Amino acid sequence: MKAPEDLRSHRWFGGGELRNFSHRARARQLGYAADEHLGKPVIGILNTWSDINPCHMHLRERAEQVKRGVWQAGGFPLEFPVATLSETYQKPTPMLYRNLLAMETEELLRSYPVDGAVLMGGCDKTTPALLMGAASAGLPSIFVPAGPMLRGHWRGEVLGSGTDMWKYWDERRAGRIGDQELSELERGLARSPGHCMTMGTASTMTSAAEVLGVTLPGAASIPAVDSAHHRMAAASGARIVDMVWEDLTITKILDERAYADAITTVLALGGSTNAVIHLIAMAGRSGISLSLADFDAIARQVPVLANIRPGGDWLMEDFYYAGGLPGLLSRLTDLLHPDRITVTGRPLAESLAGARVHDDDVIRPRGNPVAAEGGVAVLRGNLAPGGAVIKHIAAESRLLTHTGPAVVFDDYRDLQARIDDPALGITADSVLVLRGSGPLGGPGMPEYGMLPIPKYLLAEGVRDMVRISDARMSGTSYGACVLHVAPESHVGGPLALVRDGDPVTLDVPGRTLRLEVDDAELADRRAAWTAPPPRFERGYGALYSAHITQADEGCDFDFLARAGGTAEPDAR
Ligand code: FES
Ligand code: MG
Repeated sequence: MKAPEDLRSHRWFGGGELRNFSHRARARQLGYAADEHLGKPVIGILNTWSDINPCHMHLRERAEQVKRGVWQAGGFPLEFPVATLSETYQKPTPMLYRNLLAMETEELLRSYPVDGAVLMGGCDKTTPALLMGAASAGLPSIFVPAGPMLRGHWRGEVLGSGTDMWKYWDERRAGRIGDQELSELERGLARSPGHCMTMGTASTMTSAAEVLGVTLPGAASIPAVDSAHHRMAAASGARIVDMVWEDLTITKILDERAYADAITTVLALGGSTNAVIHLIAMAGRSGISLSLADFDAIARQVPVLANIRPGGDWLMEDFYYAGGLPGLLSRLTDLLHPDRITVTGRPLAESLAGARVHDDDVIRPRGNPVAAEGGVAVLRGNLAPGGAVIKHIAAESRLLTHTGPAVVFDDYRDLQARIDDPALGITADSVLVLRGSGPLGGPGMPEYGMLPIPKYLLAEGVRDMVRISDARMSGTSYGACVLHVAPESHVGGPLALVRDGDPVTLDVPGRTLRLEVDDAELADRRAAWTAPPPRFERGYGALYSAHITQADEGCDFDFLARAGGTAEPDAR
């Protein structure tokens, strides 16, 4: 147990030096009397609320409930507005800025008088960003997931954000949806605060955070607008105060077993392929080296039990009523490490005591899984020497073993300009290849990976094709899309050498991705290849470009992923 003099914030507020006097004077200026804060744990609440982030629009108010919990437990809450990464609005992609928020998180926690942190967010990149920064800062930390939005509705249909946007846009392109329908869909797709309620990146990563042990049990599945979400926020605020006294740092929670359990859970959820990149990056901040091979090995042992779109039928609201993540985990305990501790200070097993499943279709029993094998397969071959991934459970099975002629697009603009041109002669058997969309080339590895199917094929009823890129794909997307090809084309990965008509073979059972062109020919093409110019000449983009790692390494900055401590600032 810590004493008040052991608190980190005591270096700022305690003591008899000039600076201590100044810090106390400024706390009076903030309107706090000495007995309101001196000797109490200072809890930094990092809030990603913004007017432009619909997934976090409730967090401004929810921070008040966190503060309520902090006060009740005898702490002193201070809210820090931090960068908001809105998946919908931030261009070219919030992935470009994940590491920026991670840096902001780490540096704020280190440079201010903070004893413990509450991290608030949930839209896609926010969860990994906050946790990467918090892991590097190493303070007691608890994550308050934003919670999924309610189900969407349209003309008696249940709509999933993201997933049904893609689906109905294809219907629009095929000429089956008019302006009236489209405007109704606009109003029905996303109808409450909260992050995407499909098993997209947001639900995947907040669930990963829960199983890692950095949220209160059950926190990740609570819909954003449910009153239980208010209570969870207050309870998290109360808990972080005790975690400070107990010196229960995030470093003690995030061990190798935690990351293994996160992979297992993400796979059982049929979660987003983005989790592969984020978990590798997050583990790196905890000094743990995860690889694509770890995902593939675990995937072969873990069945998909969550029947949630896009891989399944239901949505996060249904998942919550069916028992939520604790319900799912209660069916996986033999594959997890139930002895390790979480923010509760107690073993994970205790968090799962009493967890039950109330709907065997939403959360399947082990004997009746959505898929017998985990949702992500890792591919290798001469087209992806560093690896690539495919969410094969969201693809038409006839395409999982397929050879077809490549149709190549140099970047996303080229793709948009030409994809519907019948002169390209694309058939349902063609393999669509998009390059120039990786971490450096994209830049920021945008979610272009679900390449559109040509209009004329959509009209013929084609709904899936083999697609290959160095991009990512939204977790709400689906299809036979090979993603994260490493190294990317921008740095001369083999994707840069593919030409129209080259046969490409995808073999998911064999875990291979091959360009059927002989080595001598590829060597000639490589000799003729010239590197594209850098994407940025100055600013954050230039910093990003100088330090970003490839997808198989998690796309962290090399200088952040590095081991080694950072000295505490002198507070005098
Ligand atoms: Fe924020 Fe989907 S847009 S989670
Ligand atoms: Mg998304």
